Amino acid sequence: MIIKENISLKEFNTFGLEVKAKYAAQVFNNRELKEILSSTKFKNIPKLILGGGSNILLTNDYDGIVIKISIGGIKIIKEDKDIVFIEAGAGVTWNALVTYCVEKNFGGIENLSLIPGTVGAAPIQNIGAYGQELKDTLFSLKGFYIDSIIEETFQNNECKFGYRDSIFKNELKGKFVITSIVLKLNKNPNLNISYGSVKNEIDKLNLKKITVREVSNVISEIRRNKLPDPAVIGNAGSFFKNPEVLEQKFLEIKNNYPDVIAYKQENGNYKIAAGWIIEKCGWKGKRVGNTGTHEKQSLVLVNYGGADGKEILSLAKEINRSVKEKFDIELTEEVNIY
Ligand code: EPU
Repeated sequence: MIIKENISLKEFNTFGLEVKAKYAAQVFNNRELKEILSSTKFKNIPKLILGGGSNILLTNDYDGIVIKISIGGIKIIKEDKDIVFIEAGAGVTWNALVTYCVEKNFGGIENLSLIPGTVGAAPIQNIGAYGQELKDTLFSLKGFYIDSIIEETFQNNECKFGYRDSIFKNELKGKFVITSIVLKLNKNPNLNISYGSVKNEIDKLNLKKITVREVSNVISEIRRNKLPDPAVIGNAGSFFKNPEVLEQKFLEIKNNYPDVIAYKQENGNYKIAAGWIIEKCGWKGKRVGNTGTHEKQSLVLVNYGGADGKEILSLAKEINRSVKEKFDIELTEEVNIY
């Protein structure tokens, strides 16, 4: 295995930030991962596990070892006439797994088409889009505790999944590395086209029968139209979570801003579209130095080129300050900040 020293991470984070890591290694299987975790040289230095680097903001050089997980493989491990269990290595590109499943007409992750990143990163923030979340189909996952190198399997209910949240972002942050996941998918899927924009586009196609392929195509198209491609302009998708507020607070906002975009939650609270809030504070498409918010989606912060992580973080703080002032709401970051 090749371990590089003093390496630029620019290619390894979708913000395209130029930071350096003291050491970096790429692992292609469990054996290589265990080798690094147990080596005396690296045992006691900080470790940063990287997937696609599409949900991180690197604000400093990393004085430790960056381990890029490139464990591949997709296979069917069990199936009957209705259900199929698929195992995928943590290093598989998330959308490659979606494409594999869509082509076989296995339903359950088609609404998560074109989300950047890798399979191993998907459970960490319980990726979600257009009415589907990973937690709806994740059956179990495997990985290693970084300190003890003990392998562990987590069942779905042990992952403490929440909205863009899991045990791996909290108690186990920096302590556990995911090596593979198992999804439970449906061969006769119930398609979810409840999202307004998805339904509109599907209706336009005027089809007799809708399949996972059409849903996947429509969602990919919506994403391409609305979200900036990190290969063209650095970004990490939604920067903040959509805040949840009490009904009382929602009504106050609605009173002042009848156009507020919000979704009622099962517990009676309301989730307000953070993109809408940020736009209302005047930030949509605004550029500050080398950073700014995307012109079509103010929830996405972008690097116009040459920005550093601190600059993006300071823009995020500035946005949060104005949101607090105007709406008395505190936004929380969705991206992981290092
Ligand atoms: N909106 C505005 N102004 C903006 C941006 C959005 O008014 O600048 C409005 C939109 O018109 C829409 C509403 O806010 O009515 C919600 O916007 P959108 O449908 O784009 O969804 P979102 O809540 O901003 C979430 C996820 C996305 C996911 C989409 C689609 C979070 C933090 N983000 O965004 O996920 O793709 O829903 O389901 O929950 C990501 O996590 O990185 C991500 C891109």
